[in-house]
Amino acid sequence: DLPALQLGTPGTDITFADTAHVLRTNIEQIYGGYPSLDQCPLAEGEITDIADGTMFIGLQRYAQQYGSPYKLCFGPKSFLVISDPVQAKHILRDANTLYDKGILAEILKPIMGKGLIPADPETWSVRRRAIVPAFHKAWLNHMVGLFGYCNEGLIDSLNKASEKNDAPGGQKGGKIEMEEKFCSVALDIIGLSVFNYEFGSVSDESPVIKAVYSALVEAEHRSMTPAPYWDLPFANELVPRLRKFNSDLKILDDVLTDLINRAKNSRQVEDIEELEKRDYANVKDPSLLRFLVDMRGADIDNKQLRDDLMTMLIAGHETTAAVLTWALFELTKHPEKMAKVRAEIDEVLGDRNPTYDDIKNMKYLRLVVAETLRLYPEPPLLIRRCRTENKLPKGGGREATVIRGMDIFLSLYNLHHDERFWPNANEFIPERWESKYVNPEVPEWAGYDPDKWMNTNLYPNEVASDFAYLPFGGGARKCVGDEFATLEATVTLAMVLRRFEFEFDSSKLAETKVDIMAHPEDLEHAVGMRTGATIHTRKGLHMVIRKREL
Ligand code: HEM
Repeated sequence: DLPALQLGTPGTDITFADTAHVLRTNIEQIYGGYPSLDQCPLAEGEITDIADGTMFIGLQRYAQQYGSPYKLCFGPKSFLVISDPVQAKHILRDANTLYDKGILAEILKPIMGKGLIPADPETWSVRRRAIVPAFHKAWLNHMVGLFGYCNEGLIDSLNKASEKNDAPGGQKGGKIEMEEKFCSVALDIIGLSVFNYEFGSVSDESPVIKAVYSALVEAEHRSMTPAPYWDLPFANELVPRLRKFNSDLKILDDVLTDLINRAKNSRQVEDIEELEKRDYANVKDPSLLRFLVDMRGADIDNKQLRDDLMTMLIAGHETTAAVLTWALFELTKHPEKMAKVRAEIDEVLGDRNPTYDDIKNMKYLRLVVAETLRLYPEPPLLIRRCRTENKLPKGGGREATVIRGMDIFLSLYNLHHDERFWPNANEFIPERWESKYVNPEVPEWAGYDPDKWMNTNLYPNEVASDFAYLPFGGGARKCVGDEFATLEATVTLAMVLRRFEFEFDSSKLAETKVDIMAHPEDLEHAVGMRTGATIHTRKGLHMVIRKREL
């Protein structure tokens, strides 16, 4: 056996020696026939299994074969792939200080600086304590109204599309690409709520909007690129793609700096308790930036605020848009569930914009959002790097030792599609969230218990599922925008589904050569999935839209 080595000092940054140690144990396992120090099997497969833009599906096939965890090596790089709730709970909650964001932080630092996602532990704990209180109850309540306001712009643009009556192939209605529309409304919402900026992207295009998309595309591109070429000397001056990206980032930085200066110049210093009681109906600028600047002792520099805002802009925009896209996709695929959700919206809401209480009363719609997040987790993989060698519990998989310096993919997609925790896992069943489920064959897993969320939360969460459902992660690094995002998705779906009927655009489906009538189960393949930070469609969600007769 290889001797167990723990190089470096626990808690300090990973060094070249740590990485070399991980490499050595892999090489000895692959070529020397030794048992690996980590006791994990090596997945043997084709690079094409994971290189077609749907890596998370390739990783699922390997998980079915090798269990959790297993190891994947690409040349000198290797990853442990974790697909078990007990092991996920260990990494995210119980032993979270032994793990950091590794490659993800390296990729995102040039864009998000010291924002929460890539921040070093010291900055992270200061900024997390400042940002979490900003998402307080009174603010979220007020945000529900703002979501309604931003959706009015979306409804106008959908009305215009439906009136065009330009659907091809004999379908009645107008053609429309809904993924793009949901991206626009989510951008408008994040702009107004986080930094009081009207992107107006549902109805317009501007250099600032283009700059936002450029930053998003670059963040996504970097997360899929094996070598950080942007760190090479002169790359930023010489590579056209990087020159363009840097000039777009400058446009965005200028807007953010201007907004930060304005907020600071009109700063009103108040206690957190006072801020949390604010009567938002009478506040001119209810943005999260305003709260951060007004907070007592918030003498943070502009650069930190810029990083915080940029992080929330990127983390909180495409994620919600993806949930909306896949919820509409699944409901269109299941007309009986669409009818059920519409009946609920009609009864609770009618033509009003939703309030917080309305959302409480639209339980089935909330479950639609939860079930969409189960089937299409955004992002499908969480990334970590081990800072101190530690033992993983067995859970429903195998015991293993995570070596210092090892990179990890924690597959939310695998967890959410595992039949042991979610019977008929590939089916869209919003009703599943109302019943308890325990699988006695999975040791150490407490099971799914709806009582654990129904009385205290509006949406199912990781606690009720004992970490088998992690749409917003879990533990210390859990998403700060979870409630904001689920409320936003619920308001948007309620307003859109109340007013419009949708069908898949058959001409676009025909282009994909998948015979949907003969194989309705192949619809996913026709629309297609691809990943970056979130699961996108391959070429958009092309629909035919018409006004609903009420
Ligand atoms: C973190 C998902 C919306 C801000 C996360 C994480 C997940 C997630 C899974 C954990 C990442 C990890 O552990 O590595 C989602 C989904 C969303 C959503 C599915 C929409 C449906 C938002 C919104 C905001 C936001 C609207 C802000 C307005 C953040 C931030 C973090 C984060 C700042 C980092 C937290 C930290 O490290 O302390 N999100 N998110 N997210 N999210 Fe979200």
